[in-house]
Amino acid sequence: MYLKNDDLSRLNSNMRCIHVAIILCLCALLVATSYFSRRAVAMEKLNKTIELPGPRQNSEFSLERALRERRSVREYRRESITLAQLSQLLWAAQGISDPRGYRTAPSAGALYPLEVYVMVGDVKDLPVGVYHYRPDGHRLLRVASDDRRKQMERAALGQDWVRQNAALLVFTAVESRTTGKYRQRGIRYVHIEVGHAAQNVMLQVQALGLGAAVVGAFDDDQVGEILDLPSNERALYLMPVGKPR
Ligand SMILES: Cc1cc2nc3c(=O)[nH]c(=O)nc-3n(C[C@H](O)[C@H](O)[C@H](O)COP(=O)(O)O)c2cc1C
Repeated sequence: MYLKNDDLSRLNSNMRCIHVAIILCLCALLVATSYFSRRAVAMEKLNKTIELPGPRQNSEFSLERALRERRSVREYRRESITLAQLSQLLWAAQGISDPRGYRTAPSAGALYPLEVYVMVGDVKDLPVGVYHYRPDGHRLLRVASDDRRKQMERAALGQDWVRQNAALLVFTAVESRTTGKYRQRGIRYVHIEVGHAAQNVMLQVQALGLGAAVVGAFDDDQVGEILDLPSNERALYLMPVGKPR
């Protein structure tokens, strides 16, 4: 069978179209594969759990000295703090200190509505990012791998100690854990609890030779968005920490 010139050129152009389509499909496949594998690596990094070093349970630094010397410190040296120091602060905030699950700070009905996040800027052996403290197992879960402290500074009405620190602790609360039992009064209990936890951290900061401040002036909604908080969780208090200048 003979093909006419017209048929031949139509066949050629069809073949060219098929080739282009195959190449385009391969390119799309390549782009999709690399996108999904990068996403998988990022997700794996994000959900990474970091076991914290065990907190020390004793020191020579007296409680009286911590109470006497404690002051709000808002300027920090550009130096890292250690993972052991961060571990100690988180333990002071919400660490489990009793086999029955009770924690370092009191909680109405032992319902523990507080959550603690750390925005890491300069902590030895811990990459920059946002971490969620898990009291069970004294661990951190990495929830973001970028530095969001500049956004936090804006949300905190430009207070630059919210950005320039070694780490920024963020206390949030799931109020329903407490209001489920104590109804409207539960809100008061949650606010009292965050004061207990923050004071624990303040005194521990002092005993470690670090400096910290507490920050209550910020836009709740903005902080919620920066942290990707679920709708039932609210930010209550920020604590920048670093080596005092
Ligand atoms: C509920 C509360 C909210 C606060 N908010 C802020 C704040 O937004 N920014 C800040 O720099 N300090 C804040 N502070 C810290 C006070 O300014 C500070 O404790 C006070 O000036 C006394 O200083 P001292 O902590 O050194 O004793 C807050 C303190 C409390 C108890």
